Amino acid sequence: MANIILLGPPGAGKGTQAKRLEEARGMVQLSTGDMLREAKTSGTEMGRKVAAVMERGQLVTDEIVIGLIAEKLEKGAKGGFIFDGFPRTLPQADALADLLARKGQTLDAVIEMQVDDAALVARITGRYTCGKCGAVYHDVTNPVAVAGTCNTCGSQDLRRRSDDNEDALKTRLMEYYKKTSPLIGYYYAKGQLSAVDGLAEPGTVADAIASVLDKA
Ligand code: AP5
Repeated sequence: MANIILLGPPGAGKGTQAKRLEEARGMVQLSTGDMLREAKTSGTEMGRKVAAVMERGQLVTDEIVIGLIAEKLEKGAKGGFIFDGFPRTLPQADALADLLARKGQTLDAVIEMQVDDAALVARITGRYTCGKCGAVYHDVTNPVAVAGTCNTCGSQDLRRRSDDNEDALKTRLMEYYKKTSPLIGYYYAKGQLSAVDGLAEPGTVADAIASVLDKA
């Protein structure tokens, strides 16, 4: 069992690799982005506020996302958790350490997925996902085999995210460099950081992550 963080800018491939880890190792993906997208559709005041912030590409408050993660951690995961898109700020990183300590658990690895900005734009603007099972596709590099149908579950509910446009992406990248990239130094100082080349093809990235996990 291992608890790990996938750390990287928008489009680095965190969701893609989290899905592979779930299949290969029985781990559980905790994506704060997915949780917030679900909250957006709840019809509550909180949901409406979250929707506006995400649309602009800004970060939602620490309080909201820490609350969401705390709730999920209560359920436990035999194979361990994959934190995808969390933590994104130093207060979130401190909160995660506290939450895990309270449950007598450890953080076993932080994997930084390194990808340059030019590749991120191409990845984000070509992405679509399955609304039913969450499988991630790309117009050019990873299209569905049968037009309009998910390869994994057969659903025809394929969607594009409303924040996957060049304007929102600029803000998302800015937020990443200002608020999230300091976590690289934070986890390096704790001796928990490993970097993988996120520009490699997905299978090679998965192998690199597996080799970090096998040593953790
Ligand atoms: P979130 O949903 O977490 O989005 P993100 O971090 O911007 O990351 P993405 O989902 O865009 O990318 P990814 O790294 O998962 O890449 P993917 O695998 O899909 O957050 C959205 C918003 O929610 C935030 O802007 C914020 O408002 C809010 N939020 C979320 N968490 C928060 C937090 N903790 N605190 C505050 N606010 C928070 O891949 C992308 C594309 O590339 C796909 O098409 C895929 O097929 C392709 N691809 C993947 N890997 C490769 C590869 N190796 N080679 C070629 N193509 C590849």
